[in-house]
Amino acid sequence: MILIGFMGCGKTTIAHELGIQLNKKTIDLDDVIPKIAGQPIPDIFAAEGEAAFREYEFQALQSILKENAIIATGGGVVTYEKSYALLKELTDMPVFFLNAPFDDLYSRIQEDDNRPLGNQDIEKVRALYNSRLDKYSALADREISTSKTVADTAAEIISYMD
Ligand code: S3P
Repeated sequence: MILIGFMGCGKTTIAHELGIQLNKKTIDLDDVIPKIAGQPIPDIFAAEGEAAFREYEFQALQSILKENAIIATGGGVVTYEKSYALLKELTDMPVFFLNAPFDDLYSRIQEDDNRPLGNQDIEKVRALYNSRLDKYSALADREISTSKTVADTAAEIISYMD
């Protein structure tokens, strides 16, 4: 199962909860990227830029798909053509788009130094969010609102699994 959605939508938290409830391995793509790149995410952005980050992210995604785990992606994975195509080709893993109103998302991510693209002026982040929405929807098998408790969100996702 793959969880996609904007920064702050709860991908990591929900994946963790699903992992416990389903007794399945959970992998956070943002934890794999620093291992491949040899440095933390903010340092990759600062030293090599976003384009390099997206390529590391793609490599990380490729390396974990075969594990059939619960995968929490990073919010921008849909913006890189190679990663988007890889996710689009998946037929054996359901993709859930976790969403919440933009203001809720922004209040969770602003001033987070670990998120270089979230820690910006609100209008810049809003534009980023708007530019990604269609991509999340196009990739998702289901859209799930995360404006409720973690347990209820996880329960809703589980109810949609075969
Ligand atoms: C990013 C989201 C982050 C992380 C990186 C870039 C983005 O992941 O991959 O900072 O472009 O939206 P989260 O969605 O887990 O915060």
